[in-house]
Formats: sequence, C-alpha cells, structure tokens
Amino acid sequence: MKNIVILISGRGSNMEAMLAAKLPCRIGAVISNKADARGLDTARAHGIPTAVVAHAEHASRELFDAALAAEIDRHAPDLVVLAGFMRILGEDFVRRYHGRLMNIHPSLLPAFPGLHTHRRALEAGCRVHGCTVHFVTPALDNGPVVIQAAVPVYPDDSEDTLAARVLAQEHVAYPQAVRWFVEGRLSLGADGRVRLAGERTAGGALLSPLPDEH
Ligand code: GAR
Repeated sequence: MKNIVILISGRGSNMEAMLAAKLPCRIGAVISNKADARGLDTARAHGIPTAVVAHAEHASRELFDAALAAEIDRHAPDLVVLAGFMRILGEDFVRRYHGRLMNIHPSLLPAFPGLHTHRRALEAGCRVHGCTVHFVTPALDNGPVVIQAAVPVYPDDSEDTLAARVLAQEHVAYPQAVRWFVEGRLSLGADGRVRLAGERTAGGALLSPLPDEH
C-alpha cells in the first residue's frame, strides 16, 4: 500500500475530504507550517501523526525547505499532497519530489494563479470558474493538470458563495486525483505529460449562463 504525506497551512478541509474518502493508502503524516492550523486537530482526532515545521523559525526559504523535506522524508512517502499549503516552495524542493508532488489551486489554471482567485474571477466577469489539481513544477501554480472541475458563476455571487461552490468540487476532485495516484493509475510521464490509465472523458459541456431552449 502506498504512503502519502499531506501538507496544510490552515482549515484542512481538503485533507478532511481525503480522510472521508477512505483512500487505499496510508497517511504517514500531516505536516503544517503553522502550529495553529485547524486541520492539525482534525488529523490528530483521526489518529494521524502530525508535525509542525514553522517557516517563521527558519532564517531563509532554503533552510525552511530543507527542514520540511527532512520531516517529509522521515515518512518516505510515495506522494506529497499540498492541501491548502500556503508557502511557496523553492526549486530544489520541487525537483526533489518531481512526479510525486501534487497541489490543488482554486481556479481553472492557467487562469488566476496566485491569491484571491475567486475575487479575481468575479472582477473579470467569468461565467465559469473552478479548481485544478496538478503536479507541481517550479513555476508558481503551474504544472501538468491532473483534473479540473468547473462551476458556474452566478450574477449575484459574492466571493464567499463562489468560493463555497468551488470548494465543494475541490473535495471531489482532489481525493479522486490522489486515489488514481495511489492505485498506480496516475503518473507524470518523462515528457512532462500526465498519464492516467483508463481515463474517462466528460460527456457534454458546462455552459453558463444556460442558452435558451429551442
Ligand atoms: C483551498 O481552497 C485550496 O484550493 C487553496 O486553499 C484552500 C485551502 O482550504 N489553495 C491555494 O490557494 C493554493 N495556492 P483547506 O485548508 O480547507 O483545504
């Protein structure tokens, strides 16, 4: 059975969705860069080992990345899952976990990398928004896409209502992506492209607003 490590910085709802999904893998540890991350309590309540590598206690990003990698490697994971981990990781770190480092981002990448994605999607007048699970490469919020979920944007949406609609889909997409990986169906090819055995394609399309019926 494969072994994963989950990195969080806060609430940990994506981590919780993975726990609820009863994935066929061992969760070796949940690691946070913040001691007060709420998700750590959830992990402990599930009997999962937790650790804190506080970025504030390291003089440079390189030292933080090295300490984080040392903690991760104690658990010898097959996959490192970034689940709301809000620190930018350096190039050496990303290369060390090439092909076994996954992230979720709350936008349909390559649109809206970075912060405040829901506000920016509203400001841009998008009628469709969503989330992306991707393998991590050194460029921020970039990398080969594993799965995306699209949701409609409604005229009366606030940042909060839109975020909640996207988050509900994150909780579907991310456990699925990790499940594919730990089942051995998903990998990052040497050509930098995602391989997914037995991939099914989506039927139909999401149009928003809905066209008139004729
Ligand atoms: C999620 O919406 C995730 O997509 C986002 O942070 C939130 C964490 O929520 N990640 C990023 O913005 C990464 N660039 P959670 O702690 O409840 O899973």
